[in-house]
Amino acid sequence: MNSSPITVNPLREGIANRLAPEPCTLVIFGATGDLTHRKLIPALYNLAAEGALPPAITIIGFARREKTTEEFRAELEASTRRFSRTPVSDDLWKSFASSIVYHRSAFDDAEGYKQLAFAMEEADQKRGTGGNRLYYLAVAPDQFPIILSQLRESGLSGATSGSWSRVIVEKPFGTDLASAKELNSLVNEVFPESDTYRIDHYLGKETAQNIMVLRFANSIFESLWNSNHISHVQITAVEPLGVEGRAGYYDKSGAMRDMVQNHLLQLLTLTTMEPPTSLSADAIRDEKVKVLRSLRPLKGEDVFRHVVRAQYKEGLINGQPVPGYRDAEGVPKDSTTETYVALQVNIDNWRWAGVPFFIRTAKRMPKGGSEIAITFKSVPRVLFNKNEEPLDENVLVIRIQPDEGVSLRMSAKRPGSSLRIEPVKMDFHYGTSFGKATPEAYERLLLDAMSGDATLFARRDEVEEAWAFVDGIEDAWKTRSDDLAFHAAGSWGPAEATELAARHGVTWRRM
Ligand code: BG6
Repeated sequence: MNSSPITVNPLREGIANRLAPEPCTLVIFGATGDLTHRKLIPALYNLAAEGALPPAITIIGFARREKTTEEFRAELEASTRRFSRTPVSDDLWKSFASSIVYHRSAFDDAEGYKQLAFAMEEADQKRGTGGNRLYYLAVAPDQFPIILSQLRESGLSGATSGSWSRVIVEKPFGTDLASAKELNSLVNEVFPESDTYRIDHYLGKETAQNIMVLRFANSIFESLWNSNHISHVQITAVEPLGVEGRAGYYDKSGAMRDMVQNHLLQLLTLTTMEPPTSLSADAIRDEKVKVLRSLRPLKGEDVFRHVVRAQYKEGLINGQPVPGYRDAEGVPKDSTTETYVALQVNIDNWRWAGVPFFIRTAKRMPKGGSEIAITFKSVPRVLFNKNEEPLDENVLVIRIQPDEGVSLRMSAKRPGSSLRIEPVKMDFHYGTSFGKATPEAYERLLLDAMSGDATLFARRDEVEEAWAFVDGIEDAWKTRSDDLAFHAAGSWGPAEATELAARHGVTWRRM
């Protein structure tokens, strides 16, 4: 499969200078689905509540089910009341909902796209949306080709002069490198790379964005940010939830494809990339790609030394019994899909040579949370560090969620006449420091797509490099299954993962 070159749009300002979101029509394909109800509409409502939406917007829900605009609005109101991060006000909902229209059509029906064109032109005239189009593919990936080719055939993918036409694509973005390349080519045949926005909602999380600010807007960290001073890094994203009715997708995917290929590798790149030449979307993404290219490939037998996969069995979470993965609805009784994965990876470049990185993600853990923990090297074993039991190392923790913030563990003298040194924490909490609730990732990402800022979206080469790495592991896993470990739901994972870390003198952090 040929990959077309990355086109750099010089107009993109990146995260440095926020461009104003422009008037547009947002067409959501798969508008009756879970994502629209739980995330997209609540995010758009909250943007409306903050006055952050563009001055003119029309939201067209495109789906197959028969329903009227009134019915659609009523369903969205119910779900927004349930999932919105702020309470829904009746008046505001009314004015927000007046911008929502339902468009019933099959995804492969050319007539439906003709009607869509009329609806969008009408919106342009009535609401002043200026011919700008944002298409959101909130559908299963097997629908992408059909929708994309219809958009092209109907002439809707191209923008008229003075306006733009963009596409937002949800994950999963392929299931391996070959399928991701195929999908990329397909998308880029219809939309140029500069108009393609691949969502990775972790990038929209406030603290994920703060990683770069922490590193490059402070003078104290970056000089220590290398193998001379850092002993190891742990990146964790765990949750107490199970598969929650998504077995059909999850059982084919597993934790490696579902979380590591995208969210966790994104956090790894933000943590380890070199300073970009500017804050433009492509300068930042260039650096992230270099990290992915420097990842030491894991292949063949190496996979079984560096990666632990496991599945949860029945157990207790918060004192409540929960069934094992194989007993979840829709999961085959003999499934070997991993719900837990722990990896030790290396970045073979000048800055990180010799530093082990530990990545872990799992469902049905005792608690949920995502964080990056950077452990610094110990002080020399002299002076205060001469005892048999060494002093605790300094650890900088970037908490992605919950309770977003950053903490630094240091050693301090316990007050008193004897010399007792204990670890203490300097802690920054977003909530208390800024007194403002952090927005949902989708709010930020939708706004960025309306503004033409692709910084927080995955570029084609990033996605493909990440798949190339993950494919090595998945290929090795296909050759055997006896390495699959098991752990009780509500425990912190299998003994094999403890051993993986212990081989490097590391203990997994309790969240
Ligand atoms: C999604 C995965 O991308 O991220 C889910 O498909 C996972 O399996 C979710 O639960 C976790 O996201 P968050 O924002 O709750 O950490």
